[in-house]
Amino acid sequence: MIVGIIGLGTVGYGTLDILTKEKERLEKLIKEEIRVKYGCALENVELPEGVIYTTDYRDVINDEEVDVVVELIGGTTIAKTIILEAIKNGKNVVTANKALIAHHAQEIFEAARHNNVKIYYEASVGGGIPVVVPAKENLVANNILKIEGILNGTTNFILSLMETDNLDFDEALHIAEGFGYVEADASLDLDGIDAAHKIYILAMNAYETFFDFDSIKTEGIRKVTKKDMDYAKQLGYRIKLIAQAKKLDNGYGIDVAPTLVKKKGMISHVMQAYNVVEFTCDYLDNVIFYGKGAGRYVTASAVVSDIIKTAREDKWIHAYAPKQKVVPITKSRYYVRTTSNLDLDYDIYFSEGEDNVYITPEMERSVLDAHVGDAVCQIFKVRG
Ligand code: HSE
Repeated sequence: MIVGIIGLGTVGYGTLDILTKEKERLEKLIKEEIRVKYGCALENVELPEGVIYTTDYRDVINDEEVDVVVELIGGTTIAKTIILEAIKNGKNVVTANKALIAHHAQEIFEAARHNNVKIYYEASVGGGIPVVVPAKENLVANNILKIEGILNGTTNFILSLMETDNLDFDEALHIAEGFGYVEADASLDLDGIDAAHKIYILAMNAYETFFDFDSIKTEGIRKVTKKDMDYAKQLGYRIKLIAQAKKLDNGYGIDVAPTLVKKKGMISHVMQAYNVVEFTCDYLDNVIFYGKGAGRYVTASAVVSDIIKTAREDKWIHAYAPKQKVVPITKSRYYVRTTSNLDLDYDIYFSEGEDNVYITPEMERSVLDAHVGDAVCQIFKVRG
Protein backbone atom coordinates (compact mmCIF):
# COMPACT_ATOMS: atom_id res chain seq x y z
CA MET A 1 0.00 0.00 0.00
CA ILE A 2 1.41 3.36 -1.01
CA VAL A 3 0.27 6.28 1.12
CA GLY A 4 0.50 10.04 0.60
CA ILE A 5 -0.06 12.31 3.59
CA ILE A 6 -1.19 15.85 2.85
CA GLY A 7 -0.82 18.06 5.92
CA LEU A 8 2.03 17.46 8.34
CA GLY A 9 0.81 19.37 11.36
CA THR A 10 0.09 17.76 14.71
CA VAL A 11 -2.02 14.88 13.42
CA GLY A 12 -0.11 14.40 10.15
CA TYR A 13 3.15 14.08 11.99
CA GLY A 14 1.60 11.67 14.49
CA THR A 15 0.22 9.55 11.63
CA LEU A 16 3.61 9.37 9.95
CA ASP A 17 5.25 8.46 13.22
CA ILE A 18 2.83 5.64 14.03
CA LEU A 19 3.07 4.25 10.48
CA THR A 20 6.86 4.25 10.82
CA LYS A 21 7.05 2.72 14.29
CA GLU A 22 4.28 0.15 13.80
CA LYS A 23 5.13 -0.67 10.16
CA GLU A 24 6.03 -4.31 10.64
CA ARG A 25 3.03 -5.19 12.79
CA LEU A 26 0.58 -3.34 10.54
CA GLU A 27 2.03 -4.96 7.42
CA LYS A 28 1.43 -8.38 8.96
CA LEU A 29 -2.20 -7.42 9.52
CA ILE A 30 -2.88 -6.56 5.91
CA LYS A 31 -0.31 -8.87 4.37
CA GLU A 32 1.26 -6.16 2.26
CA GLU A 33 3.98 -3.58 2.50
CA ILE A 34 3.01 -0.12 3.70
CA ARG A 35 5.06 2.71 2.28
CA VAL A 36 4.50 6.38 2.92
CA LYS A 37 5.70 7.85 -0.35
CA TYR A 38 4.85 11.52 0.21
CA GLY A 39 4.66 14.03 3.03
CA CYS A 40 3.08 17.20 1.70
CA ALA A 41 3.15 20.46 3.66
CA LEU A 42 3.96 24.09 3.10
CA GLU A 43 6.69 24.09 5.72
CA ASN A 44 9.49 21.56 5.54
CA VAL A 45 9.50 19.09 8.40
CA GLU A 46 11.90 16.30 9.14
CA LEU A 47 10.66 13.20 7.36
CA PRO A 48 11.72 9.57 7.75
CA GLU A 49 14.11 8.27 5.10
CA GLY A 50 12.39 7.44 1.84
CA VAL A 51 9.45 9.81 2.29
CA ILE A 52 9.41 12.44 -0.45
CA TYR A 53 8.74 15.97 0.74
CA THR A 54 6.59 18.18 -1.48
CA THR A 55 4.69 21.42 -1.15
CA ASP A 56 2.40 20.57 -4.06
CA TYR A 57 -0.53 18.27 -3.28
CA ARG A 58 -0.83 17.49 -7.00
CA ASP A 59 2.41 15.49 -6.77
CA VAL A 60 0.57 13.17 -4.39
CA ILE A 61 -2.81 12.83 -6.02
CA ASN A 62 -1.44 12.52 -9.55
CA ASP A 63 1.07 9.80 -8.72
CA GLU A 64 -0.29 6.55 -10.14
CA GLU A 65 1.47 4.54 -7.43
CA VAL A 66 -0.40 6.19 -4.55
CA ASP A 67 -3.28 4.08 -3.23
CA VAL A 68 -4.41 6.16 -0.26
CA VAL A 69 -4.47 9.95 0.08
CA VAL A 70 -4.63 11.14 3.69
CA GLU A 71 -6.01 14.68 3.94
CA LEU A 72 -5.06 16.39 7.18
CA ILE A 73 -4.94 20.07 6.30
CA GLY A 74 -8.47 20.87 7.50
CA GLY A 75 -10.78 23.61 6.22
CA THR A 76 -13.36 23.38 3.50
CA THR A 77 -11.67 24.97 0.48
CA ILE A 78 -8.36 23.45 -0.65
CA ALA A 79 -9.10 20.29 1.34
CA LYS A 80 -12.27 19.79 -0.70
CA THR A 81 -10.41 20.21 -3.98
CA ILE A 82 -7.72 17.76 -2.85
CA ILE A 83 -10.24 15.12 -1.82
CA LEU A 84 -12.42 15.45 -4.92
CA GLU A 85 -9.40 15.33 -7.23
CA ALA A 86 -7.90 12.38 -5.37
CA ILE A 87 -11.21 10.52 -5.68
CA LYS A 88 -11.40 11.37 -9.38
CA ASN A 89 -7.93 9.86 -9.76
CA GLY A 90 -9.14 6.62 -8.17
CA LYS A 91 -7.47 7.07 -4.77
CA ASN A 92 -8.94 5.88 -1.50
CA VAL A 93 -9.22 8.79 0.93
CA VAL A 94 -8.80 9.09 4.69
CA THR A 95 -9.60 12.40 6.37
CA ALA A 96 -10.04 13.91 9.82
CA ASN A 97 -11.88 16.90 8.38
CA LYS A 98 -15.14 17.27 10.30
CA ALA A 99 -16.20 20.61 8.81
CA LEU A 100 -15.71 19.28 5.29
CA ILE A 101 -17.72 16.12 5.88
CA ALA A 102 -20.50 18.01 7.69
CA HIS A 103 -20.87 20.53 4.88
CA HIS A 104 -20.00 18.53 1.77
CA ALA A 105 -20.52 14.82 2.53
CA GLN A 106 -23.11 14.43 -0.19
CA GLU A 107 -20.88 15.71 -2.99
CA ILE A 108 -17.82 13.85 -1.72
CA PHE A 109 -19.57 10.54 -1.15
CA GLU A 110 -21.26 10.71 -4.54
CA ALA A 111 -17.86 11.22 -6.14
CA ALA A 112 -16.47 8.28 -4.15
CA ARG A 113 -19.35 6.03 -5.26
CA HIS A 114 -19.01 7.14 -8.83
CA ASN A 115 -15.27 6.41 -8.84
CA ASN A 116 -15.59 3.22 -6.81
CA VAL A 117 -13.17 4.29 -4.06
CA LYS A 118 -13.29 4.21 -0.27
CA ILE A 119 -13.51 7.22 2.02
CA TYR A 120 -13.16 6.93 5.79
CA TYR A 121 -13.30 9.66 8.41
CA GLU A 122 -13.14 8.09 11.88
CA ALA A 123 -10.75 10.79 13.12
CA SER A 124 -13.28 13.53 12.39
CA VAL A 125 -15.30 12.81 15.54
CA GLY A 126 -14.01 12.11 19.03
CA GLY A 127 -10.31 12.04 18.05
CA GLY A 128 -9.21 8.44 18.44
CA ILE A 129 -12.38 7.16 20.13
CA PRO A 130 -14.07 4.74 17.74
CA VAL A 131 -17.47 6.38 17.30
CA VAL A 132 -17.88 6.72 13.54
CA VAL A 133 -17.31 3.07 12.64
CA PRO A 134 -19.78 1.60 15.21
CA ALA A 135 -22.86 3.16 13.65
CA LYS A 136 -21.82 1.82 10.23
CA GLU A 137 -20.71 -1.59 11.42
CA ASN A 138 -21.02 -2.84 15.00
CA LEU A 139 -24.48 -1.41 15.72
CA VAL A 140 -26.20 -2.32 12.46
CA ALA A 141 -28.54 -4.80 14.15
CA ASN A 142 -30.05 -1.86 16.00
CA ASN A 143 -32.20 1.11 15.21
CA ILE A 144 -30.32 3.96 16.84
CA LEU A 145 -32.89 5.85 18.83
CA LYS A 146 -30.69 8.62 20.14
CA ILE A 147 -27.10 9.83 20.09
CA GLU A 148 -25.86 12.16 22.80
CA GLY A 149 -22.38 13.32 23.51
CA ILE A 150 -19.80 15.73 24.71
CA LEU A 151 -18.00 16.20 21.43
CA ASN A 152 -15.88 19.28 22.03
CA GLY A 153 -12.97 18.93 24.42
CA THR A 154 -12.21 22.64 24.65
CA THR A 155 -15.63 23.65 25.94
CA ASN A 156 -15.72 20.67 28.29
CA PHE A 157 -12.34 21.77 29.66
CA ILE A 158 -13.66 25.30 30.20
CA LEU A 159 -16.88 24.13 31.89
CA SER A 160 -14.90 21.69 34.07
CA LEU A 161 -12.51 24.43 35.16
CA MET A 162 -15.32 26.87 35.91
CA GLU A 163 -16.78 24.27 38.22
CA THR A 164 -13.74 22.74 39.90
CA ASP A 165 -11.64 25.90 40.20
CA ASN A 166 -14.51 28.28 40.76
CA LEU A 167 -13.61 30.43 37.76
CA ASP A 168 -15.79 32.52 35.52
CA PHE A 169 -16.02 31.89 31.79
CA ASP A 170 -13.35 34.41 30.71
CA GLU A 171 -10.80 33.15 33.27
CA ALA A 172 -11.33 29.52 32.24
CA LEU A 173 -11.17 30.45 28.54
CA HIS A 174 -7.85 32.17 29.14
CA ILE A 175 -6.40 29.00 30.69
CA ALA A 176 -7.74 26.86 27.83
CA GLU A 177 -6.05 29.23 25.38
CA GLY A 178 -2.80 28.87 27.34
CA PHE A 179 -2.96 25.10 26.85
CA GLY A 180 -3.45 25.62 23.11
CA TYR A 181 -6.85 23.95 23.23
CA VAL A 182 -8.89 26.66 21.54
CA GLU A 183 -9.22 26.56 17.73
CA ALA A 184 -7.71 29.48 15.76
CA ASP A 185 -11.32 30.48 15.09
CA ALA A 186 -12.51 30.28 18.72
CA SER A 187 -16.13 30.49 17.64
CA LEU A 188 -15.92 26.91 16.30
CA ASP A 189 -15.43 25.69 19.86
CA LEU A 190 -17.23 28.29 21.97
CA ASP A 191 -20.37 28.60 19.85
CA GLY A 192 -20.88 24.87 19.45
CA ILE A 193 -20.11 24.74 15.70
CA ASP A 194 -17.37 22.11 16.05
CA ALA A 195 -19.72 19.94 18.14
CA ALA A 196 -22.42 20.46 15.49
CA HIS A 197 -20.05 19.23 12.75
CA LYS A 198 -19.40 16.11 14.80
CA ILE A 199 -23.00 15.29 15.75
CA TYR A 200 -23.93 15.80 12.08
CA ILE A 201 -21.46 13.08 11.10
CA LEU A 202 -22.69 10.67 13.77
CA ALA A 203 -26.33 11.30 12.82
CA MET A 204 -25.61 10.94 9.09
CA ASN A 205 -24.02 7.55 9.72
CA ALA A 206 -26.65 6.37 12.17
CA TYR A 207 -29.66 7.44 10.10
CA GLU A 208 -28.19 6.93 6.61
CA THR A 209 -29.38 10.42 5.73
CA PHE A 210 -27.79 13.69 4.69
CA PHE A 211 -28.99 16.72 6.62
CA ASP A 212 -29.10 20.43 6.00
CA PHE A 213 -26.27 21.51 8.32
CA ASP A 214 -27.58 25.07 8.60
CA SER A 215 -30.85 23.87 10.11
CA ILE A 216 -29.06 22.45 13.18
CA LYS A 217 -29.79 24.72 16.15
CA THR A 218 -26.42 25.36 17.72
CA GLU A 219 -25.79 27.14 20.97
CA GLY A 220 -22.41 27.36 22.68
CA ILE A 221 -21.24 27.99 26.23
CA ARG A 222 -20.65 31.75 26.27
CA LYS A 223 -23.75 32.46 28.31
CA VAL A 224 -23.13 29.79 30.96
CA THR A 225 -22.36 31.54 34.25
CA LYS A 226 -20.83 30.36 37.49
CA LYS A 227 -24.10 31.22 39.17
CA ASP A 228 -26.02 28.76 36.95
CA MET A 229 -23.41 26.09 37.60
CA ASP A 230 -23.81 26.56 41.34
CA TYR A 231 -27.58 26.34 41.13
CA ALA A 232 -27.31 23.27 38.91
CA LYS A 233 -25.00 21.68 41.48
CA GLN A 234 -27.45 22.36 44.30
CA LEU A 235 -30.07 20.52 42.23
CA GLY A 236 -27.82 17.52 41.56
CA TYR A 237 -26.77 18.49 38.03
CA ARG A 238 -23.75 19.66 36.05
CA ILE A 239 -23.89 21.87 32.98
CA LYS A 240 -22.36 20.26 29.89
CA LEU A 241 -22.36 21.18 26.21
CA ILE A 242 -24.46 18.33 24.86
CA ALA A 243 -24.80 17.48 21.18
CA GLN A 244 -27.76 15.23 20.45
CA ALA A 245 -29.52 13.62 17.53
CA LYS A 246 -32.69 11.58 17.58
CA LYS A 247 -35.60 10.45 15.51
CA LEU A 248 -38.73 12.44 16.28
CA ASP A 249 -42.29 11.91 15.07
CA ASN A 250 -41.90 14.65 12.48
CA GLY A 251 -38.31 14.04 11.31
CA TYR A 252 -34.79 14.06 12.71
CA GLY A 253 -33.84 16.39 15.52
CA ILE A 254 -30.23 17.46 15.94
CA ASP A 255 -28.97 20.19 18.22
CA VAL A 256 -26.11 21.44 20.38
CA ALA A 257 -26.85 23.26 23.63
CA PRO A 258 -25.64 23.77 27.19
CA THR A 259 -27.67 21.22 29.13
CA LEU A 260 -28.11 20.21 32.76
CA VAL A 261 -27.10 16.56 33.14
CA LYS A 262 -27.68 14.51 36.30
CA LYS A 263 -24.53 14.31 38.41
CA LYS A 264 -25.10 10.66 39.14
CA GLY A 265 -25.17 9.76 35.40
CA MET A 266 -22.01 8.77 33.53
CA ILE A 267 -21.94 11.69 31.11
CA SER A 268 -21.65 14.24 33.93
CA HIS A 269 -18.38 12.62 35.03
CA VAL A 270 -16.69 13.36 31.74
CA MET A 271 -14.41 16.23 32.72
CA GLN A 272 -11.44 18.17 31.35
CA ALA A 273 -10.93 17.82 27.59
CA TYR A 274 -12.41 14.31 27.40
CA ASN A 275 -15.21 13.35 25.00
CA VAL A 276 -18.06 10.89 25.34
CA VAL A 277 -20.68 9.51 22.97
CA GLU A 278 -23.70 7.52 24.09
CA PHE A 279 -25.79 5.60 21.57
CA THR A 280 -29.25 4.53 22.71
CA CYS A 281 -30.28 1.51 20.66
CA ASP A 282 -33.28 -0.78 20.59
CA TYR A 283 -31.44 -4.09 21.08
CA LEU A 284 -28.16 -3.12 22.70
CA ASP A 285 -29.76 -0.46 24.93
CA ASN A 286 -27.11 2.09 25.84
CA VAL A 287 -23.48 1.97 24.85
CA ILE A 288 -20.97 4.63 25.81
CA PHE A 289 -17.64 5.49 24.20
CA TYR A 290 -15.32 7.63 26.29
CA GLY A 291 -11.80 8.92 25.81
CA LYS A 292 -9.58 11.67 24.52
CA GLY A 293 -11.11 13.63 21.68
CA ALA A 294 -7.99 15.42 20.47
CA GLY A 295 -4.21 15.26 20.41
CA ARG A 296 -1.38 14.20 18.12
CA TYR A 297 -1.29 10.46 18.69
CA VAL A 298 -4.89 10.20 19.86
CA THR A 299 -6.25 11.43 16.52
CA ALA A 300 -3.48 9.78 14.49
CA SER A 301 -4.58 6.47 16.01
CA ALA A 302 -7.93 6.81 14.19
CA VAL A 303 -6.28 7.99 10.98
CA VAL A 304 -3.99 4.96 10.90
CA SER A 305 -6.85 2.57 11.59
CA ASP A 306 -8.72 4.08 8.62
CA ILE A 307 -5.64 3.72 6.40
CA ILE A 308 -5.44 0.05 7.33
CA LYS A 309 -9.19 -0.30 6.77
CA THR A 310 -8.82 0.76 3.14
CA ALA A 311 -6.76 -2.39 2.56
CA ARG A 312 -8.89 -4.75 4.55
CA GLU A 313 -12.52 -4.35 3.81
CA ASP A 314 -15.17 -3.72 1.26
CA LYS A 315 -15.98 -0.10 0.92
CA TRP A 316 -18.91 1.49 2.72
CA ILE A 317 -21.86 2.07 0.47
CA HIS A 318 -22.85 5.67 1.02
CA ALA A 319 -26.47 5.17 0.02
CA TYR A 320 -27.87 7.92 2.20
CA ALA A 321 -31.34 9.42 1.90
CA PRO A 322 -31.33 12.87 0.27
CA LYS A 323 -30.52 15.94 2.31
CA GLN A 324 -33.31 16.97 4.65
CA LYS A 325 -33.90 19.79 7.07
CA VAL A 326 -33.46 19.01 10.73
CA VAL A 327 -36.49 19.62 12.93
CA PRO A 328 -35.94 21.43 16.23
CA ILE A 329 -35.85 19.37 19.42
CA THR A 330 -38.26 21.49 21.43
CA LYS A 331 -39.64 19.05 23.98
CA SER A 332 -37.46 18.90 27.08
CA ARG A 333 -37.30 19.56 30.77
CA TYR A 334 -35.97 23.09 31.28
CA TYR A 335 -33.88 24.94 33.86
CA VAL A 336 -35.13 28.50 34.26
CA ARG A 337 -33.43 31.19 36.38
CA THR A 338 -35.17 34.53 36.68
CA THR A 339 -35.75 37.35 39.12
CA SER A 340 -39.43 37.37 38.14
CA ASN A 341 -42.10 35.19 39.70
CA LEU A 342 -43.41 32.90 37.00
CA ASP A 343 -46.65 30.99 36.83
CA LEU A 344 -44.92 27.82 35.74
CA ASP A 345 -45.27 24.08 36.29
CA TYR A 346 -42.16 22.83 38.04
CA ASP A 347 -40.62 19.64 39.42
CA ILE A 348 -38.14 21.59 41.48
CA TYR A 349 -38.20 25.18 42.64
CA PHE A 350 -36.07 27.22 44.98
CA SER A 351 -35.26 30.86 45.53
CA GLU A 352 -31.99 32.38 46.58
CA GLY A 353 -31.53 36.14 46.98
CA GLU A 354 -33.42 37.66 44.10
CA ASP A 355 -33.24 34.53 41.92
CA ASN A 356 -36.03 32.05 41.32
CA VAL A 357 -34.83 28.74 39.95
CA TYR A 358 -37.23 26.25 38.35
CA ILE A 359 -36.73 22.85 36.81
CA THR A 360 -39.82 22.13 34.75
CA PRO A 361 -41.38 18.83 33.76
CA GLU A 362 -40.99 17.91 30.09
CA MET A 363 -42.77 20.51 27.98
CA GLU A 364 -42.71 22.17 24.58
CA ARG A 365 -40.45 25.22 24.43
CA SER A 366 -43.39 27.26 23.05
CA VAL A 367 -45.40 26.45 26.19
CA LEU A 368 -42.47 27.53 28.37
CA ASP A 369 -42.05 30.74 26.37
CA ALA A 370 -45.74 31.55 26.79
CA HIS A 371 -45.37 31.30 30.58
CA VAL A 372 -42.14 33.26 30.61
CA GLY A 373 -43.57 36.13 28.57
CA ASP A 374 -41.32 39.19 28.78
CA ALA A 375 -39.45 38.07 31.91
CA VAL A 376 -35.66 38.02 31.55
CA CYS A 377 -34.60 34.39 32.02
CA GLN A 378 -31.60 32.13 31.72
CA ILE A 379 -32.93 28.90 30.16
CA PHE A 380 -31.12 25.63 29.59
CA LYS A 381 -32.34 22.18 28.67
CA VAL A 382 -32.27 19.48 31.33
CA ARG A 383 -31.32 15.96 30.23
CA GLY A 384 -33.47 13.07 31.39
N1 HSE B 1 -11.44 21.88 18.95
C1 HSE B 1 -11.72 20.50 19.00
C2 HSE B 1 -12.12 20.13 20.43
C3 HSE B 1 -10.51 19.70 18.57
O1 HSE B 1 -11.90 20.94 21.33
O2 HSE B 1 -12.69 19.07 20.65
C4 HSE B 1 -10.78 18.27 18.28
O3 HSE B 1 -11.70 18.08 17.27
